[in-house]
Order: sequence, then C-alpha cells, then structure tokens
Amino acid sequence: MAKTKNYFVCQKCGYESLKWLGKCPSCNNWNSFVEEEKKEEKAKIAVNIKNEPKCINSIKSGEYERYDTNINELNRVLGGGLVKGSITLISGAPGIGKSTLLLQACQGIASKHGKVLYISGEESEEQIKMRSDRLSVNSSNIYILAETNMETIEVQIENIKPAFVIVDSIQTLYKSTISSAPGSVSQVRECANDIMRIAKTNNIPFFIVAHVTKQGELAGPRVLEHIVDTVLSFEGERTEEFRILRTVKNRFGTTSEIGVFEMLEDGLGEIHNPSSVFLEETNFKQEGSVVIGIMEGSRPILVEVQALVSKTNAVMPRRTAVGIDISRLNLILAVLEKKLKVPFYNCDVYVNVVGGLSIEGTYGDLGIALALISSAKGIAIKLDKTIAVGEVGLTGEVRPISFSERLINEAEKMGFENILIPSRNIHKNNKIKGIGISSLKEAINKVF
Ligand code: TYD
Ligand code: MG
Repeated sequence: MAKTKNYFVCQKCGYESLKWLGKCPSCNNWNSFVEEEKKEEKAKIAVNIKNEPKCINSIKSGEYERYDTNINELNRVLGGGLVKGSITLISGAPGIGKSTLLLQACQGIASKHGKVLYISGEESEEQIKMRSDRLSVNSSNIYILAETNMETIEVQIENIKPAFVIVDSIQTLYKSTISSAPGSVSQVRECANDIMRIAKTNNIPFFIVAHVTKQGELAGPRVLEHIVDTVLSFEGERTEEFRILRTVKNRFGTTSEIGVFEMLEDGLGEIHNPSSVFLEETNFKQEGSVVIGIMEGSRPILVEVQALVSKTNAVMPRRTAVGIDISRLNLILAVLEKKLKVPFYNCDVYVNVVGGLSIEGTYGDLGIALALISSAKGIAIKLDKTIAVGEVGLTGEVRPISFSERLINEAEKMGFENILIPSRNIHKNNKIKGIGISSLKEAINKVF
C-alpha cells in the first residue's frame, strides 16, 4: 500500500508545511492552512534515452497550428485563433458568461475541426442542452460529459479523441488519489497537471474555466497561472450588457488585446467597433464629460470619461474611480492642485468611464484632467465634437503618446472634429483639426 502522509497547505498560494501555521510565511495570509493527505506513490523513474538536447539551429520552427473558433473577438485575444495543444484558462465572476462563450466557441470548432468534448462539473447535461438550444448550438460533433472525476475524464478523452476539450470548471474536478476536497489547492494543482499532460501528449487544445473570489483573484493556487499557456479574464458588470475579454498571459500572442461582447437574449454578440457602442449615448458639451482615446492592444477605442466634483465639509473627502486606477486619479488631482491652483481638498471627486471599460495606461490623463476641471468650474468644453489624448506629467506638462496616428484616424472615422493631442503627435493631412498641447495650462486656455 502506498504510504500516506499528512501535511498542511496554504489555500492561497500552495505553500506546504509539516505543521499548522497561523500565518503563511510565503504570502503572509492568515488562517489559510488546511490539512491535506497525500498518498506518496513510489516515483516511477523512466529514462528516455532518445530525448537528447538538440542544437537550436537544427530545430524546425513553424507557425503554430491554430483553430478558428468562429468568434473573431475570441480569436483576437488568443492571438489569432486557438493553438493546438494549448491550455487556456478563462476566469471571471459567476454569471458573467464564461459557459455561454465557450458553448458558442464549441459550435465554431465542432463545425470546422471535429469533435468537441464539453466537460461540465457544474451543470447537468439537460441544463447544457437547454442553454445550447437558446444559443442555437446544434453541431452533432459536440459531446457533453457531466463528470468531475479526473481519472474517468481521462478515459473518456481517450475514447472520444476530441479535437477540443472544455473543462467547466477546474474547481469541481477531483482525483481519487488525493483526499482533500475539490477546489482545494492540491486538487486544483494535480488536476491541472493531468490536463496539461493530456493536452500536450495528444496535442488537444483545452479551455479551463476557473472561478474568481469576491476580491477578483483566481480562486485556488497561483500555480494554475504558471501551468497554463494563456490566461483570459472575462470582465464586466453583470447588470450591464457589455463584457470584456482580456488577455492576462499569452504564450502565443500579445497580452494587451481585448475582445468586446454584449450579452443578448440568444447569447454573446461580438462588438466589432467598440468606440461606436461606448459613445452611443454620449452627449457632447456636457459639464464634466470628455471623450478620450486609448489603445487596447492594436485597437484604438474611444470612450467617454465623466467626472463629478462636489463641495464637502468632510475631513477626508471621497475619491471614487470606476474604470481608472485610483492612484492615477490622485496623481492628476495633485498636479491640478499644485500647478493650476484648482482646489480639490474640500471636494468629493468621482470619476467614471462610461460603458464598464477599465482603462489602463496614461492615454486618458489629459481627458480626465479636463473632465475634472470642467466639473469643478461648472463649465463644459466649448469646442464641438472634441476628443483628448495625452499623458500628464508631474510638472503639468502633456507628454506625447504612441500610436497617435491610429487614434487620430479612429477619431476621424467616428466623426470627431477636434483632437487635443500632444504637440509632437500632430500629423498633417488629416480632416480632423489637431490642436497641439504641451501643458495642462495650455489645454485649459484652449478649451474653456
Ligand atoms: P453563464 O455563461 O452561465 O455564466 P458563467 O458560466 O460565467 O457563470 O451566463 C450566465 C448569465 O448570462 C445568466 O445570468 C443569463 C445570461 N444569459 C443571457 O442573457 N443570454 C443568454 O443567451 C444566455 C445563455 C445567458
Ligand atoms: Mg458557468
């Protein structure tokens, strides 16, 4: 019989210890240790003599073989389609639409590339069937398996020989050799290792669904992120229809791409031109509102930023930011106070990016600053159909941005008439009027 050994595992980071600890020495979380039992199997030592190091120049390189999922926005975030033998983790809050998206991807792959196996540990076969009826997913190449035992799953994969496998979700799977509950660190890690072995030896691409905790972190160990090739995160407000699929890690493409979807009656619809939907309800020349341009990967996107600045007597005024980094907001407020002498210390400040998009980077700085001033002073931008792009520096200067040409073209395409842009980024030969800006002071003089 195999020897059993008890040990304690941090459920946050996977740190192992022989005795129980109150605080994890690795990730500093409290009360995260749970006793787990591991059967130690004698390590099988297999030596593959044929596997020798090769000279890098003698290795054939080639394009990755990719499957078209028939969902352009999904192909885009994967770097141009699903790579054969790759493992992709998709995480997101419950109800965001992970299962819906994957069932829709099943249809695309099943109709072009062969059998697809959808393994569900969360929903019954009937539930999935009902959903697929709603989504018009009806390829006879799609197989559903409601199962949570990893060993059984492996046998079924060998039987069916699918071209693509979906595991919904990794937290429901278990191996009978491990005594801890499904979803615990050891189960998740071991099941993921098995999946990796199956994927790489059979060259089958896998999609793994993973839950996130309330704080938005991946439930289970971080090791999961290291094992897989690609990590996608599905974001958005459940109450709003827009959903954003973001690449967090990608061994086969860039990590800055996003895919934009909307949740409809019959599943997720792709949004090919995000700027137009984000700007759908924008009223121009509103106090506190400015349209900004940002780059999401290779794609320019225009969104509206709204600011509300209101007087308060509170000792600690509120700073609330939705869709932008709060420390970025604080930095911009500090620059405005110090360099332009606009007081915010006695004001609550709220900033919101319309449409549920979270923006990263510094493209929006100038626009956010202008929205804040517009609300603080109670005056709207006087120019018609204007968009602002540019990074704000600590001395109040406006610094150039990259990809300015693409942003200018997008603004022109969306019917804007003026673009406030760092002076160095001004291009000639555009229909849209470029207004060169080198400092915040200059921008304010030009627009208010
Ligand atoms: P689901 O894919 O089950 O989310 P997840 O797997 O991420 O938990 O999607 C759940 C929500 O999507 C559900 O609340 C209902 C909504 N929905 C639609 O609005 N339209 C549809 O066609 C489908 C299938 C779901
Ligand atoms: Mg689901």
